[in-house]
Formats: sequence, structure tokens, C-alpha cells
Amino acid sequence: MAASPPSRKAAEYGEGDRGCQFVEAMPGRRSKERYAVAEPGRRTQRRAEMSRLAPPSTSGYVMPHSPRRRGPMQRFSGTDSYVATPDLEAAVNAAIALERPLLVKGEPGTGKTILAHEIARGIGARLIAWHIKSTTKAQQGLYEYDAVARLRDGQLGDARVHDIRNYIVPGKLWEAFAAEQRPVLLIDEIDKGDIEFPNDLLLELDRMEFYVYETRETIRARHRPVVVITSNNEKELPDAFLRRCFFHYIRFPDRETMQKIVDVHFPGLKHDLVHEALTVFFELREVPGLKKKPSTSELLDWLKLLLVEDVPPEALRAREPAKLIPPLYGALLKNEEDVHLFERLAFLHRRGERG
Ligand SMILES: Nc1ncnc2c1ncn2[C@@H]1O[C@H](COP(=O)(O)OP(=O)(O)OP(=O)(O)O)[C@@H](O)[C@H]1O
Ligand SMILES: [Mg+2]
Repeated sequence: MAASPPSRKAAEYGEGDRGCQFVEAMPGRRSKERYAVAEPGRRTQRRAEMSRLAPPSTSGYVMPHSPRRRGPMQRFSGTDSYVATPDLEAAVNAAIALERPLLVKGEPGTGKTILAHEIARGIGARLIAWHIKSTTKAQQGLYEYDAVARLRDGQLGDARVHDIRNYIVPGKLWEAFAAEQRPVLLIDEIDKGDIEFPNDLLLELDRMEFYVYETRETIRARHRPVVVITSNNEKELPDAFLRRCFFHYIRFPDRETMQKIVDVHFPGLKHDLVHEALTVFFELREVPGLKKKPSTSELLDWLKLLLVEDVPPEALRAREPAKLIPPLYGALLKNEEDVHLFERLAFLHRRGERG
């Protein structure tokens, strides 16, 4: 940890926010000189000078202030417990390559949170999860100063009280920045935070560093973490924040993808049962006027129940009017309006049959 405060300009404008820059091969020279076309002859000399100063593993370009990555870049291609569609895989790998946070949106239960866990598993990294609530402040992700503990120690005459460092409690970002190996940092449900929450993290996510005023230290990431941010769209995110992220919307899985998801969760499940359950599930999602469509996680819960209760596939196939509401529907329909809707549909169906 270096003990230098950032310059005001850096703190206000965020120097790390300008894309790639030429590696600082000749410190002190002005950018005009650095980019000037060198005279023939001097060019070879400059190249030699640069290759001596630049680390051997780089191509000459690095992200400004970007903590260097060690070893080859790992690629994510799903795991044995997570089905990633090709577009999701591409988005994850693009975010890793760009070293930008991956912002993931999608219907509730479409695997946004679990994605971060699976990326960590897939690339063999540690996961650090920060779950955001309406009361969470951006500062809590950096560190908190425990003034109450210090006051108590002061009253008890504890010697620790003289060192303020004893009362600085690192947050999740600090934990991620201090990690020995590049971790995956999940910022889950960022839209739950207050309106300023995303803006308050711009600089830290860009430069991967922050300043601790109490100890006058700058905390820099040892390895730029892979950042996954999820949102349920409860609040709009500011443009400045969006600009810094790579965005991916997890589309609701089609039947084929859903079949694969079911397979990873319930390998060896009877084909007939899965087939009938998927048919009921997708028909149910198509019912017009449904307030809350069931999602992947609800289908998985429902299947688990069907197994526990040993419901045969025929019970799902029997689409007589009285059975319009699927068995154990509580796993799929989550509010009384939707249950009433189905009861009404069953009633109309019966009347239509009689008439
Ligand atoms: N592609 C997938 N492959 C395997 N399992 C999946 C997939 N998508 C969703 N699931 C399963 O669905 C469940 C819900 O996933 P998760 O909690 O990540 O959803 P979410 O999008 O974060 O939901 P919410 O918005 O409500 O927080 C998990 O049990 C997960 O295993
Ligand atoms: Mg989630």
C-alpha cells in the first residue's frame, strides 16, 4: 500500500477513464513527444529503450493504472452446473477481456446471481459477493471507520486506541483489491441501492483504487477483479455508470436451453416427466394477463416437488378442465390474482364444454 494521496485532478476526473494509453516508457516526457513520429534511426533506438523499460510480457499497451494480470487470460464457457448460451459466454469473455464490469439484467430467477458464482468456478477464482440493500452505501464497500469500538477501547484504556488502523474495517471492494489471486467480485442487485449508489463507485471501479482518508493510504487492486453486477431494473442506472460496463441481458431460456438447465439440475430425470412439465410450464407462461410469470428457479422447484410427490407424467398430460391448474401450482404461481385467473379460465372452459 503506497501512502500517497491522489492528486485533486486525478480524484475529480479519474485518470483511469481514458481507454488505452501508450505505456509510460519515458517518464517525464510530454505526450506530444511520446506520440511524435520518430526520425529514422532514432526509431530503433527508441524501440530498444521502450522494450527495456516495458515489462517483457506486454505488447506495449496497458490499461492506465490497471493492475497487471498474471498468466494467460482465462475464458469462461459455462460449467457442469450452469448452462451458458453462446451470447452469454461471449459477453462474459468480452467483459473479462475489456476489464470492464459485466452488467447483467434479466427476469428474476434467470441465473444472474448464480452466474458470478459459476464464472468464479469456471475460471478457478475466488468469489467475493456484495449483496446490495436499500440502506447500503458505496462507502461500505470500501471501508468503514468503527468509531464506537475506538471510543469503547479508549474508555477501557486499551493501547490499540492509539492506532486508527485498528478501527478501519475493510469492505468487499477492499477485500477484492487485496486478494492474492484475481477474484470475481459480485455486486448483486445494484438497483436496490439508493439513486447515487452506482455513481459513487465510478472512480473505484475504473481505477481500481481508493483513498483511505483516516490513514492517508491509497488502496490499489493487486489484480483487477472480474466484476459482475446484477440488476433487476428497479431503478434506472446512470449513463456514466452504464458507459463503464459491458451489458448483457439474459433472455428467458427457450425450450431447448431450459431442457439443458433441467438436465444439469436433475440428471437422469424421466424424459416423459420433463417433457410434460416443460409443456405445462411454457403454456402457463403464455397465459395472457398473468401477473408474475414463473421463471427458471420456479420450474426447478416445481420439478423437485413433482419428484418428491412422485407425480406421474400422465397427471400433467391430463388436461381436462378441472385440472387446468397444474398440480402443486404453489411453486409456479406466486399470487392470488394468478390463481384466480386460472380458476376463472377453468370455469369458462367447463361452461364452454357443457354449452
Ligand atoms: N443457465 C442456468 N443454468 C443452471 N441453472 C440455472 C440457470 N439459470 C438459472 N438457474 C437456476 O435458477 C436459480 C435462480 O438463479 P439466480 O438466483 O441466479 O437468479 P437471479 O436471476 O439472480 O434471480 P433474482 O433476480 O430473483 O435474484 C438457481 O438455482 C440456478 O441454479
Ligand atoms: Mg439474484
